[in-house]
Amino acid sequence: MKVGVPREIAPGERRVALVPAAIDRLIKAGLEVQVEAGAGEAAFHTTREYADVGARILPDPAVLYGQSDVILKVRRLQVTPDGAHEADLLPSGATVVSLFVPDDDPDLVARAAARGLSYYSMDLIPRISRAQPMDARSAMSTLAGYKAVLLAADQYGWLFPMLSTAAGTIPPAKVLVLGVGVAGLQAIATARRLGAVVSAFDVRPQVRQEVESLGARFLTIDVQSEQDASGYARGLSEEQERRQREQMTAFVRDADIVITTALVPGRRAPVLITADMVAQMKPRSVIVDLAGEQGGNCEWTEPGKTVERLGVTIMGPVNIPSMMPTLASRLYARTISSFLLNMVRDGALAPNPNDPIVAESCVVRAGEVVRATAAAALTRGIR
Ligand code: NAI
Repeated sequence: MKVGVPREIAPGERRVALVPAAIDRLIKAGLEVQVEAGAGEAAFHTTREYADVGARILPDPAVLYGQSDVILKVRRLQVTPDGAHEADLLPSGATVVSLFVPDDDPDLVARAAARGLSYYSMDLIPRISRAQPMDARSAMSTLAGYKAVLLAADQYGWLFPMLSTAAGTIPPAKVLVLGVGVAGLQAIATARRLGAVVSAFDVRPQVRQEVESLGARFLTIDVQSEQDASGYARGLSEEQERRQREQMTAFVRDADIVITTALVPGRRAPVLITADMVAQMKPRSVIVDLAGEQGGNCEWTEPGKTVERLGVTIMGPVNIPSMMPTLASRLYARTISSFLLNMVRDGALAPNPNDPIVAESCVVRAGEVVRATAAAALTRGIR
């Protein structure tokens, strides 16, 4: 079975689906690996490194797609610079694995189905123990949470730690983290390591202990959400969201830096910081909103931009993992190859549809849309 790794073509994307160190494991499982020339260059892996570990190098992406049984990618299939669609380069019956939020992209779901493809999304790996080595989202969110604090620290005109100097005492920065999932926890840990005083809030009260074990304070706000079976928060009602904002206003006003990471799967990110709340913050405060691409946790976030409003800097960084392409690729390669190997028997693809990891991540199986929400979005015809 031939596994192909193309060069990523999404603008600004520097990651690659497999790093050279991940290839040996696939070859030992009886797979042939072929890599587009230059696929790893933006992540600082030369084509030579891939050839040295036994990958076949193909200069032409159309040939790579045309001769692969499975394509491993970072970003979803998309239109190439010369106007072809990557989905159309694949032979019918081929399998694709990539990050992909299918409910937001019914056009691609329809295209993959029409082409007779099977499409698995690394965004849909369930957060269960057995799937931990395949959890690409958590791996990427760990990097994002860490980097968000460094971006804030760089932008913030003061220091994070308390310092007593001959020229006076500098108080520590006050960091507030809203949303304590994977990214939020890593943001708390990073801000603490830099010496900030950290407080945090999440609608899942279960995370209080984790927050406190990192040396941060868990804020008492009278709003809670149930966890679903996968451990994700359920959305709040409008009234609860309003109450949360009201009770959080004083904490936001008091913070020097706010890192927001709040998200409920399948929904637009909740607005936690309104323009009015920004107006009450101290000038020179910084907000880093990781949820910019899902609509933003701050009303004034512009995804991909840093803007200043009333003296407050609001950053909406997108694709942070790509800012650390070598490490992000290494972690992603580990998760995607573990995912693939979970479906391989005797050198061939043999996905077990009863395996929850396979069932939940599968969007299209041999041309049939099997993910219910993606099928519903298709029939509604929303873009
Ligand atoms: P996660 O699902 O593990 O965590 C989200 C947290 O938000 C959960 O703990 C949830 O309970 C909490 N939450 C939901 N509604 C809330 C509310 N109203 N108030 C407070 N907390 C609330 O997600 P993860 O993996 O930590 O990712 C966090 C965010 O960062 C997501 O929006 C994700 O898309 C984004 N992200 C952004 C990247 C970038 O480059 N900008 C890279 C990776 C992730």
